[in-house]
Amino acid sequence: MKPWWQPHIGDLEEKFVLDVLRSHYINEGHLCTEFEQKLSKILNVPYVVATTSGTASLFLSLAALGVGPGDEVIVPDFTFIATANAARLTGAKVVLVDVDPETLTMDPEAFKAAITKNTKAVMPVHVSGRAAQMKEILSIAKEKNIFVVEDAAEALLSKYQGASLGSLGDLGILSFSANKMITMGQGGAVLTSDRKLYEKVRMLKDHGRPVRGTGGNDIHFITGYNFKLTNLQAAVGLAQLEYLPGRAKRASEIQKFYQEEFKSLEGLKILPFEKEDQPLWTDALSDQRDGICLALEKTGYECRKFWYPLHTQAPYQTNESLLQTATHLGPKAFWLPSHFLLTDSDLEKISESVKTFFKHRDRKGKVE
Ligand SMILES: Cc1ncc(COP(=O)(O)O)c(C=O)c1O
Repeated sequence: MKPWWQPHIGDLEEKFVLDVLRSHYINEGHLCTEFEQKLSKILNVPYVVATTSGTASLFLSLAALGVGPGDEVIVPDFTFIATANAARLTGAKVVLVDVDPETLTMDPEAFKAAITKNTKAVMPVHVSGRAAQMKEILSIAKEKNIFVVEDAAEALLSKYQGASLGSLGDLGILSFSANKMITMGQGGAVLTSDRKLYEKVRMLKDHGRPVRGTGGNDIHFITGYNFKLTNLQAAVGLAQLEYLPGRAKRASEIQKFYQEEFKSLEGLKILPFEKEDQPLWTDALSDQRDGICLALEKTGYECRKFWYPLHTQAPYQTNESLLQTATHLGPKAFWLPSHFLLTDSDLEKISESVKTFFKHRDRKGKVE
């Protein structure tokens, strides 16, 4: 069975990691700095802080903004649970809002309607690399004096009006877990253009000290955590960056193939991407989702069903009346096999399997 996503480790990783092992300097060090600098250049973002994960990056971003007990943080109902968990772990209240049916990202009107005097931050999520409606979200946030933390965990290389996703809000984050465009097993980064926030994030991720390594005379200005990346992980990350252009190109080709191939299939809707988006995964909607996934499994290809809407998960259970789009689309949403190692022959087989499914079952109903 070919998985819906597969990380790729090339030869470079082994060489870079071996160099680190032989250097005996496996903790956070010069390779982490190099990784941060490379990302900063690629994304054209002034400040990058490498961390242990996307979740840690989200938490650090909110903590740097002073989000805590008594505050409310607005999160879309459709996202990986990490977005909400990071907000909850600051002590703030998570307020879930509905998504837009065309993009599955935060509905700006729902965001506006959920604002109270306690709202401190909003966390738009760029699902699968597709930009949330940032113009509207940023404008509402500015008017209401609300911080914006962009969850760009899935959106490395995506842009919006010329700027990298993750660089539009006060802070933004990336994830390097195994199903992302580049991976180091686990890892993340905080992006910002604000020097003060950058310094705060740096301190928070390392026990409240701005600089590490002065030994017994370290100065700790604030209480902090330990969310430091290591040279070992950064070595893998630096190797992965070398493959990034090729991967991005292939991911776009795969997305275009599905788009083209299924455009006349009424029972299956492939969500489009905007020109500036860098597709990571191909999102699809169908009333026959489970049947399609089963048919594909029989052909040897795995799909991934979408996250359950957060309001259905135990920690965030809420009344669904305001979350109708996520509730309605949740059981229809899934990702087609999307990893960049899929060959043209794989794609043809996937297409044939899906088309045969609809032909034989005569399932042509339009996705509503
Ligand atoms: C939208 C979204 N937010 C946050 C995360 C959390 O990132 P990590 O797994 O690196 O903690 C992920 C992915 O895992 C994600 O897809």
